[in-house]
Amino acid sequence: SKRIGLLTSGGDCAGLNAIIRAVVRRAEGYGWQVVGIREGTAGLLDRPVRAEEMSSGIFDGTILRMGGTILGTTNKNDPFAYPDGAGGTIDRSDDVVAGYRELKLDALIGIGGDGSMGILRKLAKKGGWNFVGIPKTIDNDVGSTEISIGHASAVNVAVNALDHLQPTAASHNRVMVLEVMGRDAGHIALSSGIAGGADVILIPEIPYRIEAVARHIERVRQGGRNFALVVVAEAVLTESGEPVRQRHASGGTSYGGIGHYIGDRIAATTESEVRVTVLGHVQRGGMPVSRDRLMASVFGVHAVDLIAQGSFDRMVAWQHRQAVDVPLEQAIEHFKAVEPDGALVRTARGLGISFGDG
Ligand code: F6P
Repeated sequence: SKRIGLLTSGGDCAGLNAIIRAVVRRAEGYGWQVVGIREGTAGLLDRPVRAEEMSSGIFDGTILRMGGTILGTTNKNDPFAYPDGAGGTIDRSDDVVAGYRELKLDALIGIGGDGSMGILRKLAKKGGWNFVGIPKTIDNDVGSTEISIGHASAVNVAVNALDHLQPTAASHNRVMVLEVMGRDAGHIALSSGIAGGADVILIPEIPYRIEAVARHIERVRQGGRNFALVVVAEAVLTESGEPVRQRHASGGTSYGGIGHYIGDRIAATTESEVRVTVLGHVQRGGMPVSRDRLMASVFGVHAVDLIAQGSFDRMVAWQHRQAVDVPLEQAIEHFKAVEPDGALVRTARGLGISFGDG
């Protein structure tokens, strides 16, 4: 019998609970015990260590459907550079390793994006743990896998937002700008823009010019339509190449606000009345859509099977309609951006959607 540690790390997303359920169910099938660790590596830093044994009977019926993570998570999760409270950082990785040892685990499954996965791998190497990773991020930018958990649900939220914006845009003859998330990549903007009927999609992978955006909006009007929908990824830069960041009063800096910049520039270069919506963290919550639940189940089962085979330092992945696993190193090293000449960009261009580059 084995004891398997399980933690969620980095920003939350819809579908994490469905992974937790799948891992616990599959482990129970082997007769193993899963130990849920609270708030990523933070639970291993505290004394007593914050972790508890999990059994599927308690939560099985509900958590498949729930957003968030019942284990909690944090994206201030680097114990190698832990805030010392005085503006600097200290290395607390030894404490995490000691916390892990206390739990007497045979292996650890970590659910995270590329940032968390890199940190967990480093910790696993240091502590000599058997580690398996499961990719999640609404941004869908983890390398070596076509799918990361949470992305499909986030795209669905953004498409719903466009569905809500279109009628009010048409009623008022307006250009609606929707800023969506994606810290470093434009996957959410691209997919939601196509599925939600955008006229313009701006992503960090394709440099834009506002004149080209304005020209396209004028063309849409000349074609007889009285409104336009513009989707902007949060990581898009200003025309002079500056990132727009938002400082949060409670600490932390993230992107957010480029939508307002683009909206102002469109208003200044066209005759249109413009309104801007910054979608933000609503993209991270809500019930996971069926595809995220399905893939969460696939990944959870596969991760436990890897432990059964004694196959470690690997990440479960989805490639060519199959669950596979790849060396963690490979997944971490190959950040996945939108390919500017990839299939979905071609689809968008085929629909007449502008990227502001033509
Ligand atoms: O990586 C997921 C993500 O939601 C990004 O899309 C976004 O840039 C970031 O996290 C927001 O981080 P925070 O939750 O710290 O505001």
